[in-house]
Amino acid sequence: MSALRPHDATTVQRDRAVDDATLLARLDEARARTWRLVQPLGETDWRTPQLPVLGPIAWDLGHMTTQWDLWLVQTLAGRPEARPGMNDTYDAYRNPRPTRSGLPLLSKTEALRFSDEVRARVAEVLVDTSEEERTGPLWAGRFVHSMMVLHEYQHDETILQGLQCIPPERYTFPDPRPRREAVGGTRHEAEWVTVPGGPFPMGVPRQPGTYDNEWPPHTVEAETFQMARHPVTNGDWLRFMADGGYDRQDLWHPDGWRYRCDQGLTCPLHWRQGDDGWERKRMDRWVPVDPDEPVVHVSWYEADAYARWAGHRLPTEAEWEKAATWDPNTETKRAWPWGEARPEPALANLDHGACGPEPVGSRPDGRSPLGVEGLIGDVWEWTSSDFHPYPGFVAFPYEDYSAKFFGDNYKVLRGGSWASRPGLALGTFRNWDLPVRRQVFAGLRLVRDTAGKNT
Ligand code: AVJ
Ligand code: FE
Repeated sequence: MSALRPHDATTVQRDRAVDDATLLARLDEARARTWRLVQPLGETDWRTPQLPVLGPIAWDLGHMTTQWDLWLVQTLAGRPEARPGMNDTYDAYRNPRPTRSGLPLLSKTEALRFSDEVRARVAEVLVDTSEEERTGPLWAGRFVHSMMVLHEYQHDETILQGLQCIPPERYTFPDPRPRREAVGGTRHEAEWVTVPGGPFPMGVPRQPGTYDNEWPPHTVEAETFQMARHPVTNGDWLRFMADGGYDRQDLWHPDGWRYRCDQGLTCPLHWRQGDDGWERKRMDRWVPVDPDEPVVHVSWYEADAYARWAGHRLPTEAEWEKAATWDPNTETKRAWPWGEARPEPALANLDHGACGPEPVGSRPDGRSPLGVEGLIGDVWEWTSSDFHPYPGFVAFPYEDYSAKFFGDNYKVLRGGSWASRPGLALGTFRNWDLPVRRQVFAGLRLVRDTAGKNT
């Protein structure tokens, strides 16, 4: 295979030579954002899981602090835990989500104090460790500090999944921004973009700001296929519902059908029938379902049934990554579909200010080299791929992070959502979840094969 150069995300993203102050500022910014999201919560909503699959927000905050202590103090400097028992209480694997509300969790005030305590320890370790002592892969480019920034962003999104469940009278979102509208009006017809076959480099080299499951880069062959220019919208979903999509067993995976029957599914999560038609909960208010927004809060099983109904399919994650990052004309890989510029509001709906997806067609500047829109932000996109390691995978440094989840149980999601911080939403970032999960800010996009069509 010729010289396909993997994209080097360090050129755009981070951290060739980040100093301690910059790192601390990133950690502080991330943590301040987290506290801002939970600031309006009363003690009951702090402690009570909004859904059993989420666990209490109180646990997330304690866990986020404990992870800083574990990696940035205990692991890097060999110091004991900040407070005895915290490693145990806030260990994700010892304490599966449904059991977390039974733990001795810190109150909101105590959790804030603990967060400040650990933050001071993190700074102390940086001050106490000379450049000569900063050896090994954990320190390289300050790898674990960047990992803790990413980890913070991920839990922000879990927290937002919980906040999305709280009744409007009990939670007001702190920083909403005005909604963006589609450029040039609404879109009515499906549009397809041809992605030419041929090899492309998938994944990234090990570097700060990435996780082990994204490494190493490797060449993947893909057939020519067509990808929808936009994700599936609420309008599309309403047509699926009207056509009996939730009632036709032939459209569903057998496990999906069982799940649909057990749960009595008839519409996406956070939808209800209002006096004037369907409404959806958009963070802290109920709004009419907008037919032009990407559909969100559907499980993989629903996405799979929809694709069958439409006569198309979900993309593989390789197809998704190729469409999002590969420019076939210049044969180069990009960090994001639009290029190397950091995400900003005109390019992608990220950073949770929008409180939900925005209409398709509202960000033409964020399109890929071939013209696919909305790949980054708005909704995570379910792929047809199970979560498997790339060839040559080596777990680092956090054995539990990816390696425990590889296998056929989890489906890969790509692209980030309106609730993702920009650092998470790169063209190479891999998210995964169970095919029954609906609280995730996930939707879908279709692809179709072109065999014989030559379009
Ligand atoms: C990748 C979203 C499935 O929340 O379980 C957070 C991310 N891993 N802390 C999860 C994660 C460890 C993970 N997901
Ligand atoms: Fe975690």
